[in-house]
Amino acid sequence: MLIIFGASGDLTARKLVPAIYNLFKGGHLPEHFVVLGASRSNLSDSDFRQKVVLESTYLQGKLKGAAENHIKTFADKIFYTDLGKDYDTDYTALSGRIADLNKEHQTDENYIFYLSTPPSLYEAIAKNICDQGLSDELNGWKRLIVEKPFGYSLESARQLNEGLHQYFKESQIYRIDHYLGKETVQNLLVTRFANSIFEPLWNRNYIHHVEITNAESGGVEKRGGYYDKSGALRDMFQNHLLQIVSLVVMEPPIGPNAEEIRNEKVKALKSLRIMRDEKTLYKNTIRAQYVASVIDGEPVKGYREEEGVDPESTTETYAAIKFFVDNWRWADVPFYVRTAKRMPTKVTEVVIHFKSPHHQIFKDSGMDSKDNKLIIRIQPDEGILVKFGVKVPGQGFKVERANLDFYYSSLTETHVMEAYERLLLDAMQGDATLYARADEVEAAWEFVDPILDYWKNGEDVKVYGYSAGVWGPTNADELIDGIAMWRNPEMNLADDPGFCVIC
Ligand code: BG6
Repeated sequence: MLIIFGASGDLTARKLVPAIYNLFKGGHLPEHFVVLGASRSNLSDSDFRQKVVLESTYLQGKLKGAAENHIKTFADKIFYTDLGKDYDTDYTALSGRIADLNKEHQTDENYIFYLSTPPSLYEAIAKNICDQGLSDELNGWKRLIVEKPFGYSLESARQLNEGLHQYFKESQIYRIDHYLGKETVQNLLVTRFANSIFEPLWNRNYIHHVEITNAESGGVEKRGGYYDKSGALRDMFQNHLLQIVSLVVMEPPIGPNAEEIRNEKVKALKSLRIMRDEKTLYKNTIRAQYVASVIDGEPVKGYREEEGVDPESTTETYAAIKFFVDNWRWADVPFYVRTAKRMPTKVTEVVIHFKSPHHQIFKDSGMDSKDNKLIIRIQPDEGILVKFGVKVPGQGFKVERANLDFYYSSLTETHVMEAYERLLLDAMQGDATLYARADEVEAAWEFVDPILDYWKNGEDVKVYGYSAGVWGPTNADELIDGIAMWRNPEMNLADDPGFCVIC
């Protein structure tokens, strides 16, 4: 039984129910499976089914053409219970409903509690669940999934971990980071550890620098109230991007199980060099905010004009950080990571820039300014591209750059699960590999905290402006040593045609 707290909120209709529907349609759900939504709205089972299934705009596309009894069978698995005024209340009635549903649908007392409420309620909900004896695993397993944000700072993340650990064991807690549910993020592990052509080069001897870009074309939409208290560093960098960083940086795990992989990820996060002094923080961090502009003839609001945002807000919608990793593999290799809203396109990619050959024979070939690159595209146009030099046919040694590529879209037979679909299925099967462990989350905050503190209290800290629809403030290029430029990716993975001779 999946019990969702905060079930009348947007996430349930937008992500969770569509993911459960996909699992149902794909035949991945156990026969005895039910969902119980719980929140503070006064809804009946039938009202809730209407809202999240039958009239849900998020499901309409998926339900199109499906037989009526198929939709009904799915909708009949969904129930609702009203918690009353407050989440911090006596859960006797909720517990009774769970017991009844368990008996009726033979769910063997295997429960997942999914917390999709403001994080300030997590501890109280966990306590109230525990008070009903619903966290003990004498009969059936009990798991707790918590949504981000997990804490607002290192201190609050620690408190939250300690709070939850009073009621649930760490092995029962699943901290969701939906980027880990993305197929292409998991493929980082496979690219690195299933290929002998990349791994030997994956170190300071061959890699010049690593660049990670996460760009969104959208603004803060209707989430201004939340976002203004958070900002890009907390919203994206501390969790999703540092998770990607940990997969790029980590050492090979002993095996593929959750603990081995997460042990290596923690080690990776702990080896990020924490920047503490103002001079270093000034030189290596940039924050900025989008300002009003016109995109394709349409006026676009600036961040400060967005609903729910303080008109004098200094919250960043763009964050770019340069940092180093203090370990044997990565000594002196700079990492450049940026995330932002209102960029020219929506794209996430990791770019590994290789060093030039130690001794350059074809000096005049024009290749010296074009490094070998491995581009791992997380989204969209998911795939991998290697850029390398080829000889231009003819006299002499003129070199051009060619592309060697792989696209997920070429795998016609494969159904790529959506992130929430994969993660929910993993939680049901008790596989926590793609969930963040307590120490991982804390290690990530440890790195981020001094930056946030500097941005809040430091001297000389600026918030730059960039017009909505451009690649951030121009001075962000100064962060990149030597090359002085970010790779500004396009919608498509291959943004140049690569060299070829047609005839
Ligand atoms: C969420 C952030 O975690 O990730 C949002 O809170 C952001 O601000 C979203 O838009 C991006 O996710 P995706 O999967 O669309 O890249």
